[in-house]
Amino acid sequence: MMLKLLALVSLLPAWTMMVSAHTVYARQYDTAPTTDAGGGDHGFQAPGPNDARGPCPGLNTLANHGYLPRDGKNITIPIVLQAVLDGFNVGPDVVTLAAKGALMAAETPDFFNLTEIALHETFEHDISLSREDFHVDPNNDNIHFNETVFTTLANSNPGVDYYNATSAGQVQKERQDIQNAVNAQLINNVKDFKIRTRESGLYLAVMGNVTAGVATKAPKNFVQILFREERLPIAEGWKKNDMLITVDVLDPIEVEIERFSEWQPSGVQPNPWIRLGPDGAIDPLTANRI
Ligand SMILES: *[C@@H]1O[C@H](CO)[C@@H](O)[C@H](O)[C@H]1NC(C)=O
Ligand SMILES: *[C@@H]1O[C@H](CO)[C@@H](O)[C@H](O)[C@H]1NC(C)=O
Ligand SMILES: *[C@@H]1O[C@H](CO)[C@@H](O)[C@H](O)[C@H]1NC(C)=O
Ligand SMILES: *[C@@H]1O[C@H](CO)[C@@H](O)[C@H](O)[C@H]1NC(C)=O
Ligand SMILES: *[C@@H]1O[C@H](CO)[C@@H](O)[C@H](O)[C@H]1NC(C)=O
Repeated sequence: MMLKLLALVSLLPAWTMMVSAHTVYARQYDTAPTTDAGGGDHGFQAPGPNDARGPCPGLNTLANHGYLPRDGKNITIPIVLQAVLDGFNVGPDVVTLAAKGALMAAETPDFFNLTEIALHETFEHDISLSREDFHVDPNNDNIHFNETVFTTLANSNPGVDYYNATSAGQVQKERQDIQNAVNAQLINNVKDFKIRTRESGLYLAVMGNVTAGVATKAPKNFVQILFREERLPIAEGWKKNDMLITVDVLDPIEVEIERFSEWQPSGVQPNPWIRLGPDGAIDPLTANRI
């Protein structure tokens, strides 16, 4: 039946045109790959020069292990939800909004590549734990890992070998103070703060053992390998959480992070606006359009 239909389509020029006009909607992957290209078990492979990677160390890591397409391209919301579940045991309630944000930042209507997420002020935000702000010289590089930026997190919670919700909050505060001083075009609104806090909660929960709740400890070497190498520290002893990481699981951890962040809005755009696409205005009031 399907073959007959296809034969019919090829006989009708108008239909053929319609089909080719829709190839932009075709996708390379219908679901996230469950094994890597070699049929292996999600081994680490550093990205090649044509692979897309972006500002999110967690998603880059999932691509480096073949939970996301290793080329970092043609990612859909179902693919990202499946990958985050399989790789990190993080539930869809935690990432759906961010995945939708990734689509808003993309050129294509229903898939994105990992670099596109870097569109400033859709979900990408200032005061990252591991990337410089979009407007900070000399490199204006909000995509690649930066060791200087990462120093704050790397050196936090001195005297013990783990990070936790208290130290994660202190790191957010310290990063906020640093970027307030160096970025004249800083954007630090409540939307960005909530996204940053979710990200901090995630590195603690995913690298730690969340059965401990607010007392969750994430071994420092695991977290550092995740950020610096975008690799799962399996050889070093890391295991995926047995417990599904949901918003409810993250909530007490995030409350503690927020408490120690001592957050205050600052910068040039205090409104919690989400930029709606590559042509979207950061400030629709000034631009008089969305
Ligand atoms: C994958 O995405 C790129 C844009 O990033 C697009 O040009 C290409 O057609 C897509 N491939 C498939 C098979 O959908
Ligand atoms: C990802 O998408 C952006 C914007 O559409 C494009 O400029 C870039 O080349 C893509 N990256 C790769 C590695 O294909
Ligand atoms: C990393 O960030 C620091 C601090 O802003 C900056 O001086 C340095 O040039 C950045 N490094 C790279 C490679 O972008
Ligand atoms: C985090 O670790 C520090 C240092 O051990 C400790 O003082 C603090 O109470 C811990 N916080 C939580 C929430 O367990
Ligand atoms: C997390 O801790 C609990 C309670 O101590 C333990 O039963 C479980 O095996 C640990 N999970 C992982 C993935 O280490």
